[in-house]
Amino acid sequence: MTIIIAVDGTAASGKGTLAKKLAAHYGFHYLDSGALYRLVALGVAEAGGDPNCEADALAVARALDPARANDPAIRTAAMGIGASIVSAHPAVRAALLDFQRAFARQAPGAVIDGRDIGTVICPAATAKLFVDAVPAVRAHRRWLELKSKGRPPAEAEVLADILARDERDRSRTVSPLVPAADAALLDTSQMGIDAAFAAALALVSPKVENALISPA
Ligand code: DC
Repeated sequence: MTIIIAVDGTAASGKGTLAKKLAAHYGFHYLDSGALYRLVALGVAEAGGDPNCEADALAVARALDPARANDPAIRTAAMGIGASIVSAHPAVRAALLDFQRAFARQAPGAVIDGRDIGTVICPAATAKLFVDAVPAVRAHRRWLELKSKGRPPAEAEVLADILARDERDRSRTVSPLVPAADAALLDTSQMGIDAAFAAALALVSPKVENALISPA
């Protein structure tokens, strides 16, 4: 059996950083599922398509090359919004499902971050976290990140984007952003990276260690 840690949460909540650190800690594979949707958004833009058009987005999703997930072009604010738009299409989500589930099955384990990992992609995950922080804190973190890469938009604009993205991700009909019933909730508003990681580890380690001792 392999161990799966699902790390879902809101935009810029710190879930990606935490998931990466958990994967490094346990020596597990790591997947940023948001990068897949960002790659679809980038592909649609490159093809001159419309992210609101399911057929345009599906054509890109079906031909997706996940190896491009490190492309810095997907890390812009525009691709974050585009990803949120294309991810609301049921056929796009379905096209990316098998890749994510196959990734999750890799030994000795996998950590995947996203919006629906604990609810839809891996409902039987060993441990589930749902990471959140108040919007102003998330906007400031994302603004600092964008600033480190060049000229950032105004912080108020970043906040507005985050709120719009949360709303779209929460209200879509398929796989909406919602904590799994059995997810441990982690609010990182008052925490730096080290404190948040310590809290995340304290929440998931009993489940991971239990699974290592007595595999199902
Ligand atoms: O985690 P991120 O900011 O890179 O995600 C970008 C968008 O992709 C997010 O607004 C919604 C979508 N997404 C999703 O619908 N399901 C996932 N598992 C991951 C991301």
